[in-house]
Amino acid sequence: MIGIGVGENFVASDVTAILQHTKQVIYMEDGEIAEVFKDHYLTKMIANEEEVNKVVHQIEMTLDEIDKGGYPTFMLKEIMEQPESLKNSIRGRLLMDTGDVKLGGLENVLDHLLYVKRIMIIACGTSWHSALVGKYMFETLLRIPTEVEYASEFRYRNPIVGPGDAVFFISQSGETADTLAALKEAKRRGALCLGICNVVGSSIARESQSGVYVHAGPEIGVASTKAFTSQLVVLALITILLGRRKGMSEAEGIELVSEFKKIPDYAREILKQNSLIEEIAEQFKNATNFLYLGRGYNFPVALEGALKLKEISYIHAEGYPAAEMKHGPIALVDENMPVVFIAPKDATYDKIVSNIEEIKARKGKVIAIATTNDDQIDNLADYSIKIPTTRSILMPILTVIPLQLLAYHIAMKKGLNVDQPRNLAKSVTVE
Ligand code: AGP
Repeated sequence: MIGIGVGENFVASDVTAILQHTKQVIYMEDGEIAEVFKDHYLTKMIANEEEVNKVVHQIEMTLDEIDKGGYPTFMLKEIMEQPESLKNSIRGRLLMDTGDVKLGGLENVLDHLLYVKRIMIIACGTSWHSALVGKYMFETLLRIPTEVEYASEFRYRNPIVGPGDAVFFISQSGETADTLAALKEAKRRGALCLGICNVVGSSIARESQSGVYVHAGPEIGVASTKAFTSQLVVLALITILLGRRKGMSEAEGIELVSEFKKIPDYAREILKQNSLIEEIAEQFKNATNFLYLGRGYNFPVALEGALKLKEISYIHAEGYPAAEMKHGPIALVDENMPVVFIAPKDATYDKIVSNIEEIKARKGKVIAIATTNDDQIDNLADYSIKIPTTRSILMPILTVIPLQLLAYHIAMKKGLNVDQPRNLAKSVTVE
């Protein structure tokens, strides 16, 4: 994009980078080139040098949305504001009386979506983890086969995709080069392409045929936190929207949407444990490896917890489905290995408990994310962080929050720059 200032102009890939200088921008399209000078600019087609007249857009975002709001870092601010960002993602979308959901961006493609034989979800990094949660949601509640793909792999492997498929592209920035290229490829092959983006007006949002905005608000910290939980909100909303048209009863819908409404308050409860999590971080700040284990909906959360730690603390961490540990990772466990278990009281709780026992038998240190009032876990784990319980489709929105805080405090205690970790960029606009 080009930011248009007074006596100065800017070139950026994300509006937050130039917001303090100007709110007027033009978006560049593929095949266009711009010459930008101090006091004017020219936009042309690369192919024939023909001049293009671009529309100037006014950015709605305000500067206080992108300041630290009294927090020492953007990342902590963004973790702490999740009760509000979640509320914003949910606002106006739940129909409490009928147990239904309203998503304006999907209205014109709803019929298509209800009859697709297969859904694909394509993304990178943290957004790929929310895609994986989406697969569990869609397959469990909609019974629609759902494939999750890394955008970078999809675009280079001659994918089997075409008319009759619906493909969701998840991206916080809406500018990730691989995701954008995968979208263009899927569109070229005739699939219905839908965006789930946070940044309004971003390339992926514009290139998609339809979609849903995440509305988490600007995310500045390189490590994605509030955008992830809001992406999960959107995926759960889509699940209920389609579910109610595919046999989910009104009573079931009402129960789900009323639980949904409580999620921001549950998030607030979890954030109150910030000091406890900081104490736990103190114990583990010098660890060199971490394992994160979870099952079902919480397996992608294990991946996300490990990614958060890697990105900002530079500690090696791996996420695994808990039951897979005996197929390899358990060999790594000794008294120096912290293992984070995501262990809410759900259908696989007993299995997770026995996985914890196996780790303890090998002297590993266990940090458990468990459900409030779960005393059994307290007797097993070295540390437990308690969270409210809700419907399993909504649990990942909650279970990830302590993991964000754990990674945050470990990195801060190591004196690292959590907002701009080394070698990483907020919008990955190159391959
Ligand atoms: C998240 O913490 C990372 N910085 C990174 O994995 C990110 O999720 C990935 O680059 C995808 O970004 P996007 O959501 O903007 O497409």
